[in-house]
Amino acid sequence: MSTLASLEERALADLHDCTDEAALRVWKTRYLNDEVEQAVKKVSTLPPAERPAYGKQANELKKKLTAEYESAIAAEKERALARSLASEALDVTLPSRPARRGRLHVSTQTLRSIYAIFADMGFQIYRSSEVEDDETNFGLLNMPEHHPARDMWDTFYTTKPGVLLRTHTSPGQIHVMRELCPRPIRVILPGMCYRYEAITTRSEIMFHQVEGLAIGERVTMADLKGALIAFARRMFGDERTVRIRSSYFPFTEPSIEVDMDCIVCAGAGCSLCKRSGWLEILGAGMVHPVVLRNGGYDPARYSGFAFGMGVERTVMMTYAIDDIRQFWANDLRFLRQFGT
Ligand code: DAH
Repeated sequence: MSTLASLEERALADLHDCTDEAALRVWKTRYLNDEVEQAVKKVSTLPPAERPAYGKQANELKKKLTAEYESAIAAEKERALARSLASEALDVTLPSRPARRGRLHVSTQTLRSIYAIFADMGFQIYRSSEVEDDETNFGLLNMPEHHPARDMWDTFYTTKPGVLLRTHTSPGQIHVMRELCPRPIRVILPGMCYRYEAITTRSEIMFHQVEGLAIGERVTMADLKGALIAFARRMFGDERTVRIRSSYFPFTEPSIEVDMDCIVCAGAGCSLCKRSGWLEILGAGMVHPVVLRNGGYDPARYSGFAFGMGVERTVMMTYAIDDIRQFWANDLRFLRQFGT
């Protein structure tokens, strides 16, 4: 009995000395988990006559010390909270920092406008890979090996023979034709293209193009003209006029290039249009019979038109931007100017 009394005295004195939660936990391990437990267990070693009185007192001691410990730890937690409220005071009256919203890159915004215009004309989006093989990028588009027209595209070849980064979106024409043949086709094929060029204010090694392809049994040059004029007016304004020049691409016959009257000077001549009054917007033509056949379509029965435009060039014309390198330079002062 006297051991229990002295244990109680020691335990309470030590508890009183604890100044933080860690010390309280050490105290608990020492007394409640160890010494008090031992004292309770000791009951079985006593002569039977002493057991009831001892057992009762030991259990009361355990209950009392447990209660003391719990109230001590609760009080300590209160104090810790008060301390942290005092030392880490939060001034809720401070105005918050504005949330900074990102925005879409100007090329993405322009791509989306282009998609919307062609979607209204019934064109679906078809995506094909930026890594191509030589055969699809050139050969099947009517440019066999050593064909001089290949010189129009400065190409990044990979270390794997015959594998390259596409120089234009036109190889997508082959993929879509082979997938959908003999059904009619009306798609646009947007995406990044790559060319091995010196980077200057007018040329970059990567840029977006949007290719268009329509194939059916009675598709004519008039359909091509109609689609392109409708596009130019919705993209650049109702008052736009379009000029068509004959041109050459290996995958179209006949081939054309399409100009639009300059959006700055409306044809009078300025620095944007280099005094010509016209801005070149895209290349196009009627799909070459060889290309139709490579896609699986019989040129005696089917015909089609195709076009291809550079997206960054379109953006540059829209906003009179004079340096294409701005697009991928990641300069926020440039990028923030576009859109909301
Ligand atoms: N692929 C051509 C280029 O990158 C652009 C082009 C011209 C695409 C005429 C066409 C087309 O589909 O018919 O220069």
